[in-house]
Amino acid sequence: MSGFGIYIHWPFCRSKCPYCDFASRAEKNFDFQAWKTAYAQSLKSYASRTENKQVSSIFFGGGTPSLMNEELVSFVIETIYSLWKTKEDIEISLEANPCSIDLEKMRALKKAGINRLSVGVQALNDKDLKFLGRLHTVEQALETIKNAKQVFPLVSADFIYGRPDQSLQDWRVELEKILELNLKHLSLYQLTIEEGTVFYKKGVQPPEEELAADLFELTDRLTYQAGLERYEVSNHAVKGDECRHNLLYWQGGEWLGVGPAAHGRFTQDGLFYATAQDKNPAVWLNNQMAEEIVLESKEKAEELIFMALRTREGIDRKTFFNVIGKDPEAFMDTGTLQDYQTDGFLICDQNGIRTTAKGLMILNALCRTLLI
Ligand SMILES: C[S@@+](CC[C@H](N)C(=O)[O-])C[C@H]1O[C@@H](n2cnc3c(N)ncnc32)[C@H](O)[C@@H]1O
Ligand code: SF4
Repeated sequence: MSGFGIYIHWPFCRSKCPYCDFASRAEKNFDFQAWKTAYAQSLKSYASRTENKQVSSIFFGGGTPSLMNEELVSFVIETIYSLWKTKEDIEISLEANPCSIDLEKMRALKKAGINRLSVGVQALNDKDLKFLGRLHTVEQALETIKNAKQVFPLVSADFIYGRPDQSLQDWRVELEKILELNLKHLSLYQLTIEEGTVFYKKGVQPPEEELAADLFELTDRLTYQAGLERYEVSNHAVKGDECRHNLLYWQGGEWLGVGPAAHGRFTQDGLFYATAQDKNPAVWLNNQMAEEIVLESKEKAEELIFMALRTREGIDRKTFFNVIGKDPEAFMDTGTLQDYQTDGFLICDQNGIRTTAKGLMILNALCRTLLI
């Protein structure tokens, strides 16, 4: 898949949720002028190296980028337009928390250029929202979705399932309510317990393997019946409304990562660069420092295999060859590949290699054992 995206990381939230290990911290006061300068500096430094590329997507992620003021969002978008050519149908997404966005702000963000809003809802019952450390109620979240649908051509919502004490039947009832929202894109994540988070310290447990598999299967079935296809492990969309920016990550596209902790992947003069920005917001604001390495073809190939197997389309043979110059099988243990096909975890044909629904449930183990 071709495409060139720009990811902008905003590292702040109103409060830190107990399950989250994203690069984000609670903060109230921002020096928006200083952030303008820092984002512009970083964008300019990359523009001189990628000026011949055409931007197909911009993604404001976080943290909670709905805490950015509209002027800053607008400034970043204008800066990008002034530095690169952009695709006419460019996708410009922003992640929003119901606590930091209202109808007026949505209209201002739309005016700034945002055409896709992704709202973090997480649960449709107040008890679980409280458990998840969320500062909003179900009512506020529903109001946010209703407003967003009025303003943006594409609206997505994030939910977390597999919460402690959530039965299969509980999730079925909740998912049916979620599907009644009639959104064209949903990100439905199973709760993971990440090291260092409050949930990890408290010993909160993810669902048992069997329940996790049942929850996954139910999610797959109900979303499919509602017209949303799983196009990545946790992402479901009406065909054609997939998040194009996220597809870049999973299908071998190129993108710049700007802002603290952001990662980027792009080619320059035939070399494939991997960049990682300094994680500390104060340090990054000051100097926009980033580490940079040139990826070897094997590393690039493994990354592409790992990411593409997460998606419905899987590893596209032609794209893989164009990017790497070899077939995907050159990086795989052929005996293991054969076994996984026989056991119904993978499908391998002239178009490429794809993971079945059964394979997706053991994706990490599958990739670990498949690569040589
Ligand atoms: C950057 S946040 C989205 C926007 C905003 N910060 C918010 O939370 O409303 C990304 C999403 O990742 C998901 N997420 C984060 N940590 C998770 C975890 N440990 N398990 C499952 N999902 C998680 C949540 O659904 C969250 O909405
Ligand atoms: S889930 Fe969203 S709001 Fe909560 S800490 Fe993570 S990034 Fe911030």
